[in-house]
Amino acid sequence: MKEEMRLLDLGGHVGFDSLPDQLVSKSVSQGFSFNILCVGETGIGKSTLMNTLFNTIFETEESGHYEACVRLRPRTYDLQESNVHLKLTIVDAVGFGDQINKDERPIVDYIDTQFENYLQEELKIQRSLFDYHDTRIHVCLYFITPTGHSLKSLDLVTMKKLDSKVNIIPIIAKADTISKSELHKFKNKIMNELDKNGVQIYQFPTDDEAVAEINAVMNAHLPFAVVGSTDEVKVGNKLVRARQYPWGIVQVENESHCDFVKLREMLIRVNMEDLREQTHNRHYELYRRHKLEEMGFQDTAAESKPISLQETYETRRKEFLCELQKKEEEMRQMFVNKVKETELELKEKEKELHERFETLKRTHQEEKRKVEEKRRQLEEEKIAFNRRKAAVETMQAQALQVTSQQPLRRDKDKKNSKGMITKSNVEPLKYSSWWQAIQCCCNCLVKNPTGQERFL
Ligand code: GTP
Ligand code: MG
Repeated sequence: MKEEMRLLDLGGHVGFDSLPDQLVSKSVSQGFSFNILCVGETGIGKSTLMNTLFNTIFETEESGHYEACVRLRPRTYDLQESNVHLKLTIVDAVGFGDQINKDERPIVDYIDTQFENYLQEELKIQRSLFDYHDTRIHVCLYFITPTGHSLKSLDLVTMKKLDSKVNIIPIIAKADTISKSELHKFKNKIMNELDKNGVQIYQFPTDDEAVAEINAVMNAHLPFAVVGSTDEVKVGNKLVRARQYPWGIVQVENESHCDFVKLREMLIRVNMEDLREQTHNRHYELYRRHKLEEMGFQDTAAESKPISLQETYETRRKEFLCELQKKEEEMRQMFVNKVKETELELKEKEKELHERFETLKRTHQEEKRKVEEKRRQLEEEKIAFNRRKAAVETMQAQALQVTSQQPLRRDKDKKNSKGMITKSNVEPLKYSSWWQAIQCCCNCLVKNPTGQERFL
């Protein structure tokens, strides 16, 4: 419901009519920022056009055709005209359109990152938006190759991806390489293709009376066909910026030669503030809305009931805590299960170890028993051996004794005349064999004290 307000007359000059002046003065002292994104294939004339537009020489660095991927290269400059300071950022999409797989994704990401940085600053408790360097892209100059045919599918795809994120102004680069009649047809073709594919390019605003007419006319000239050059050539008695060819001169600022003046007029002199506003109110707003919705914030709840940020925050907080608790419980359960599993495994291992220990113990006892048995056997063998040794020694002693009592008989039992051994000499021989046998036995016993069988 709209509130009724009474209109009152002032009795005299109060002074709030100076508000616009205050605004201007504040803005001037604060300075402005403007960010241009140049998208177009390598060597299409982006840097030359920027130099021509701002009538200066910016740092330039030629890009190679062998970049691994599309890379965004921002460069910021401080410019001053009268007492107005402009922080100008020119962002080059280096490597765009050179080879396959060089798509628009890095460009989209770059634009989103600038929005995200701004959003993060806005969401801070202690914001410093006043002196924040706004890097959001205010305009994208899309450089179309002057083929005279039609747009490339890469152009259509890229512009389609960018149109909801940035103000696109399409321009036909190096327009001096295309004839006047071809250019007319080319422009129509481009606009038809953009329209057919639903690509929304930036339209110069016609809602402000002061610029409505000129903007409407300029909208009909899109895409601008431009020529860039910082070289000065003498035409008549004036030095003009132009491109000189063996067959003639193309003057950059001559409207019958190209649309450079139109572009400069629309981009810098008439609609620069609108481009900044559109960026903030349309493109950034869209990004911010999506981002906040993603975070779970809403303006209205079910049945279109308004819902405050505080309520949404509380609901989300509760949901988050619930989820956290659930996760915590899950993790706790998981931990308990894991501990149980490990405990079971350990018990199993312990059992195994115990069994192994028991087996080893049994084996050891068995071995010990066998060794004991062996020892006992050896002891017995030793005793038996000693007993036999003693017996042999006794027999040996007896044998020696017998041998010492027989010397006479040995003489008597010498050979008879025929050399035959008589009965009397058989006995000493018999004793001698005996002696040898005993010695042999003794040797065996000494060499093989445990060989009971062999000895026997
Ligand atoms: P990279 O930054 O390396 O991608 O190149 P760029 O797109 O910035 O192109 P740059 O401005 O360096 O120009 C490349 C060549 O094109 C130079 O030789 C320029 O003189 C020439 N050139 C620039 N603008 C025009 C133009 O409007 N017409 C013609 N015919 N040549 C131009
Ligand atoms: Mg360049």
